[in-house]
Amino acid sequence: MGFQVAIDGPAGAGKSTIAKLVAKKKNFIYVDTGAMYRAVALFLLRNNIKAEDADAVAAACLNADITINYENGEQIVLLNGENVNSLIRTEEVGSMASAGSANPHVRAHLLNLQLKLAEQYDVVMDGRDIGTCILPNAEVKIFLTASSHVRANRRYLELKAKGIACDLNEIEEDIKKRDFQDMTRKHSPLRQADDAVLVDSSQMSIDDVVACLIQLI
Ligand code: DC
Repeated sequence: MGFQVAIDGPAGAGKSTIAKLVAKKKNFIYVDTGAMYRAVALFLLRNNIKAEDADAVAAACLNADITINYENGEQIVLLNGENVNSLIRTEEVGSMASAGSANPHVRAHLLNLQLKLAEQYDVVMDGRDIGTCILPNAEVKIFLTASSHVRANRRYLELKAKGIACDLNEIEEDIKKRDFQDMTRKHSPLRQADDAVLVDSSQMSIDDVVACLIQLI
């Protein structure tokens, strides 16, 4: 087992931005587990499988092979051998990932992949259940959050910068819905591990949060 840094928190808290920077500074690999759930979600969408159809989702797992490669430090997600990195960042895939990840077969399907990476490398791994379920003995556990308003506003600015038309209130409603879905599901719900450090980034810059984590490590 390598050194393990577990970062959990709700959508839009900045987990991936922070995790990437911390991983680079420490020369650890960054494991984005959300991307794995998104790749499964893409498979479900492509095959017209509804998240509510638990049996079909379970069966789909047998046909959705997810593997991870690293190219120049960047995590590449392969779905049945196809690099799907550029296809999994849409809202549609995100909400399917949130719905599909409630299925225990999906979670079990990705568990080994996540554990194997943590066995092989020093990792900064982010997700919803890393500190609570996947890496319960992680040396450092962070629960990174921010108010739903701040998270919505960050997402709004991101989309606007890309020239995508969007509505701030709608984004905040989506974020709240996703939080509710991720926190109230039966299997591995999003929650702060008892031994995780709570970091609320609402009033912090990216550099502040990175410095805080480096100190904890
Ligand atoms: O972090 P993200 O937005 O890429 O994650 C997409 C969805 O995947 C999220 O809404 C819940 C699910 N997820 C999960 O259940 N467990 C994880 N460890 C990571 C993501």
